Amino acid sequence: MTSGSYGGKVVVVTGGSSGIGAAVVGRFAREGASVVIGYNRGAHEADYLKEELEATGTPCVAVKADVSKTRELEQLMDRAVDRFGRIDVLAACAGISHFGSLSTLTPEAVDHVFAVNTRGQLLAAQHAAERMTAGGRIILTSSNATRRAVFEHGLYAASKAAIDAMVRCLSVELGPRGITINAVAPGATATAMVANNAARYQPPGMNLSAEEWLSVSHALDRIATPDEVAGAYTFLAGKDAAYISGRTLPVESCVF
Ligand SMILES: NC(=O)c1ccc[n+]([C@@H]2O[C@H](COP(=O)([O-])OP(=O)(O)OC[C@H]3O[C@@H](n4cnc5c(N)ncnc54)[C@H](OP(=O)(O)O)[C@@H]3O)[C@@H](O)[C@H]2O)c1
Repeated sequence: MTSGSYGGKVVVVTGGSSGIGAAVVGRFAREGASVVIGYNRGAHEADYLKEELEATGTPCVAVKADVSKTRELEQLMDRAVDRFGRIDVLAACAGISHFGSLSTLTPEAVDHVFAVNTRGQLLAAQHAAERMTAGGRIILTSSNATRRAVFEHGLYAASKAAIDAMVRCLSVELGPRGITINAVAPGATATAMVANNAARYQPPGMNLSAEEWLSVSHALDRIATPDEVAGAYTFLAGKDAAYISGRTLPVESCVF
């Protein structure tokens, strides 16, 4: 048995190649878990992370899995079981952002955002749960955008609000099997997703620089680091969260 809180546990992370997902991979690895890094476009980043972890003794595999493709999700879970014998924890971190006015939305954009952010998480939970036994933990990724009125962000917010509803209902199905399901709802976090959209989070007409806005709009004067958010995933997967299910845990200090 490997040492650490997650010694001997097998953790699958979708979107493990960058940002919050990569920090989640790092947290579980430091706590002794065997880790399956799911990635889509970030093959290079996933391989680099895998090599880093293997160098420090973490059993690890990187698997290409576009979460909008059901077959690839199934293959991700199968690879986890083939390589490590089972799945104890799913951390579903894969996601995409979207900004756009109502008048410019296309059906294709709506379908794609929901395919990745909503269906991708629902089916990841399904395929992971099928392979879990009592004690399994499923952690999905919502957003604080579900509770804020962010300009031209309705499609993304809707795709994430579905996650809050999903974990509430699925907890009733999975509870009798001894499996918990929860979501983490990050606020703005220093990843590529925020770097690419930083100017768009402030209300129209407020002409602060992205840095000024992100500072004044947070009680702690700054946005979160990926590692600070990742701590919520290891918490929800751990013994201290054994009686929490069907809930969404905010990790943010947003004041508006
Ligand atoms: N950053 C924030 O402020 C913030 C706030 C609230 C919620 N979130 C949520 O947190 C999660 C992580 O976001 P992040 O900030 O870390 O963004 P990020 O750095 O852009 O990372 C996004 C991750 O999702 C993966 N991904 C995207 N499309 C995918 C697909 N079709 N199939 C599989 N993987 C896919 C990417 O994989 P590849 O690079 O390999 O393609 C990447 O690993 C997302 O669900 C996001 O909505 C973020």
